[in-house]
Amino acid sequence: MDDLYRDYILEHYRKPHNFGVLDDATASQEGANPLCGDRITLQLRVRDGRVDGVAFTGRGCAISQASASMLTDEIKDKPVSDAAAKTSSDVLDMLGIEISPARMKCALLSLETLQQAIATVPPTPGAPRLGTESPTAAS
Ligand code: FES
Repeated sequence: MDDLYRDYILEHYRKPHNFGVLDDATASQEGANPLCGDRITLQLRVRDGRVDGVAFTGRGCAISQASASMLTDEIKDKPVSDAAAKTSSDVLDMLGIEISPARMKCALLSLETLQQAIATVPPTPGAPRLGTESPTAAS
């Protein structure tokens, strides 16, 4: 690891928040970075339209693991609609460092996996289905 990564990113990498397995997940999704083969599994427990629990496992580089740690912190105990509205810009803002095009897939792996997981959550009656948009890279 080197000076490219700020301390808080390394902290999240070394001691990721929400790392583990949910016993009673209502959605579970695996995501992979085809460029390196790293993968994460992200789980949600949705109750009454809120993210009652969230956890992830997997392996990857500091950027991918820190973004998963920060993103899961960010959506925990929030409405699912808030989680579904997260964008690549939100994730890049959370990371707070310049992400090269080569590392963009690392940075957005957790977001893509989250969006796929949310797309499997049955919609609240009368509400539009969430999480069907694909993430777009920030310019
Ligand atoms: Fe594998 Fe970043 S190098 S996710």
